[in-house]
Amino acid sequence: MQNNFAMAISGFGGNEVFQEIANFPLDWQLSDGEIIVENKFIGINPLDYKTRSGLGWAAKNIADKFPALLGFEFAGIVVKSNAENIKIGTKVCGQKAGCFSSFIKTTAENVAIVPDEVELSTASVLPIAALTALQIVQKIDFSHQRKIMLSAPLGGVGHFLIQMLSSKKSDIALEISAISAEINRDLVLERGADKFLAYDGKNLDAEIVNIQSDLFIDIYGSDDERFYRVLRDNGEILTVPTIAVEKTKNTVKKSNRNITVSGILVKENIADLEHLLAMVKANKLKAQIAKIYPLKNAQEALTELENGHSKGKIILSV
Ligand SMILES: NC(=O)c1ccc[n+]([C@@H]2O[C@H](COP(=O)([O-])OP(=O)(O)OC[C@H]3O[C@@H](n4cnc5c(N)ncnc54)[C@H](OP(=O)(O)O)[C@@H]3O)[C@@H](O)[C@H]2O)c1
Repeated sequence: MQNNFAMAISGFGGNEVFQEIANFPLDWQLSDGEIIVENKFIGINPLDYKTRSGLGWAAKNIADKFPALLGFEFAGIVVKSNAENIKIGTKVCGQKAGCFSSFIKTTAENVAIVPDEVELSTASVLPIAALTALQIVQKIDFSHQRKIMLSAPLGGVGHFLIQMLSSKKSDIALEISAISAEINRDLVLERGADKFLAYDGKNLDAEIVNIQSDLFIDIYGSDDERFYRVLRDNGEILTVPTIAVEKTKNTVKKSNRNITVSGILVKENIADLEHLLAMVKANKLKAQIAKIYPLKNAQEALTELENGHSKGKIILSV
């Protein structure tokens, strides 16, 4: 049994609520099917800073449990196992609420085995960001939705989604439009967008009406009514941040446009996660790791993510 170093939060607030804990409590006794994983990398997500601030569904789960751990996706090596199909030394990744620590306890059912060809750093960003992108793609009705617009195409979810949509172009006629900062125009077009809109551009109002998308996947979660003008009548908005869905519905209602708004909540699904690992192994999907911070610098990592313009994923190394 080794010490379980963790970056905990002592309450809700800004990054000042973080505290290092040299040995965070972990029950090393295993029931049937349980395993202990030594984390190697932890993906960070906006969900982490929202939860730290006391916002959203995940904050409710820890509201009376301080000191509490943030962190929702991890990759590491099994160091103790009471599961028939998982041996000590196996590389695994998965979702786990409260994984900002050296070790986590989970079950064999809740992890995917990481193939040797896939780096653990890459595996650590598949269980939330890439899985969200995949589950968005699963919701699209490509028989009717051929003109697709997305916001934040270079961020954690977006950089996976634009790859997945672009790869569909070999089978179906798909037009991808993307909205990002003007400075990212060339990069977004290189990544597979056919049309580009700059949210900070001078001609946004004029350009936006020419897009006429069937579906707007709003990864950023804007309440700027102008964004919705990218849609044709009877178009659909899929708002990705759960806390922005109601706001979007209200803005659309006020605009009197015939637009449907729905949300999505990524669901843990090991078959989907294995599919993502296979895509990475086959070079069909790439994870862009923007920066790696040591776990003890989790505050700095969250500050950078919270600035809102990172490209790809920021991760923590343990
Ligand atoms: N519902 C779910 O299950 C689920 C799952 C995962 C994530 N999410 C949510 O989805 C959102 C995106 O997550 P993420 O991991 O992709 O975040 P992220 O990596 O932090 O997204 C950063 C991106 O946001 C863009 N952005 C910043 N300001 C913008 C603005 N004013 N207008 C348009 N775009 C702007 C940036 O593009 P520029 O550099 O061009 O500014 C940047 O590429 C978060 O709210 C997250 O909580 C929801």
